[in-house]
Amino acid sequence: MTFAAGRGVDSAVLSLSVLVLSLVCVLYQLEDPDSGALPTHRMSQDMNNLREMYKTLNKSCFILGASGETGKVLLAEIVTSQLFSKVTLIGRRKLTFEDAMYENVIQEIVDFEQLDDYAPAFQGHDVGFCCLGTTRAKAGVEGFIRVDYDYVLKSAQLAKAGGCTHFNLESSKGANKNSSLLYPKTKGLVEAAIEGLNFDRYSIFRPGVLMCDRQESRPMEWMARKFLVPIAYMFPTSITTPVLVVAKAMVNNVLLSCDKKMELFHNEDIDHLSKLGKTKEK
Ligand SMILES: NC(=O)c1ccc[n+]([C@@H]2O[C@H](COP(=O)([O-])OP(=O)(O)OC[C@H]3O[C@@H](n4cnc5c(N)ncnc54)[C@H](OP(=O)(O)O)[C@@H]3O)[C@@H](O)[C@H]2O)c1
Ligand SMILES: *[C@@H]1O[C@H](CO)[C@@H](O)[C@H](O)[C@H]1NC(C)=O
Ligand SMILES: *[C@@H]1O[C@H](CO)[C@@H](O)[C@H](O)[C@H]1NC(C)=O
Repeated sequence: MTFAAGRGVDSAVLSLSVLVLSLVCVLYQLEDPDSGALPTHRMSQDMNNLREMYKTLNKSCFILGASGETGKVLLAEIVTSQLFSKVTLIGRRKLTFEDAMYENVIQEIVDFEQLDDYAPAFQGHDVGFCCLGTTRAKAGVEGFIRVDYDYVLKSAQLAKAGGCTHFNLESSKGANKNSSLLYPKTKGLVEAAIEGLNFDRYSIFRPGVLMCDRQESRPMEWMARKFLVPIAYMFPTSITTPVLVVAKAMVNNVLLSCDKKMELFHNEDIDHLSKLGKTKEK
């Protein structure tokens, strides 16, 4: 290697280091500010006792979007946990399951365009989980709002009217009703509209880019996810969230007592919640 070439390499290495360092700084900024917002005494509660106690309450739940990436993992968590004595899926199509553990799962097939006609499907559930959603690429602007705002809000209204006391919404990092961008704005608006329904308990989860092996081809998301893998490894809660982490967080949170009507979980909180009961928390 010549001296000149060596210098070239040096400056390339230097620029690369500067780039990596800036990225690291940006990522640290991106880490959610409210981390550790969960009271520690909640962390140390014995999750196993809470689980056993919860089972005796004979609660019923429903899931919207159980065929989706988060929804199917959530359903599996809920079914294996046996926390609920009745589990109902509300969706636009009937799902088939190989595993016997799903045999008691009830399915209500509804037309989301005529949801009022299906009000009975939403009656009698204590807890509701919503993992419904589409993308602008798939459904267009109108279609996206129709699903992520109208369907979600209408479902929440019917659930509230049907006696649901705890509604769980999978929203998204960056949700902001004041945003000028369609996605964060729609997510922020639907979060706020559901808050207006006044559930006894309303839990909002704002995960980052969902990490999963998506069946459906979404090339841009696929590429982004590949690029995000090393970042997800180094900074697990900066930009990404594995769907299993969201599912575990939702299920664990149900067990915890909550003295607020509304609780908002950022990515870091979701990560904490998902780990409760797994290992001893300090
Ligand atoms: N992708 C991300 O990186 C990301 C990040 C943060 C938050 N989120 C949000 O998290 C939520 C769940 O995301 P996901 O990726 O797990 O979901 P997903 O895999 O896209 O699944 C979406 C679910 O919604 C249902 N759905 C979609 N369009 C529908 C329609 N027109 N009518 C009735 N049902 C419809 C789907 O049912 P079918 O199976 O019948 O289509 C499916 O059950 C969404 O609200 C999403 O915006 C996503
Ligand atoms: C449990 O709830 C179901 C309705 O979901 C009800 O039919 C049943 O009687 C309840 N059982 C007990 C033991 O409370
Ligand atoms: C949105 O704007 C309103 C009114 O300006 C403000 O009170 C609120 O804090 C903003 N919310 C967010 C999430 O930025």
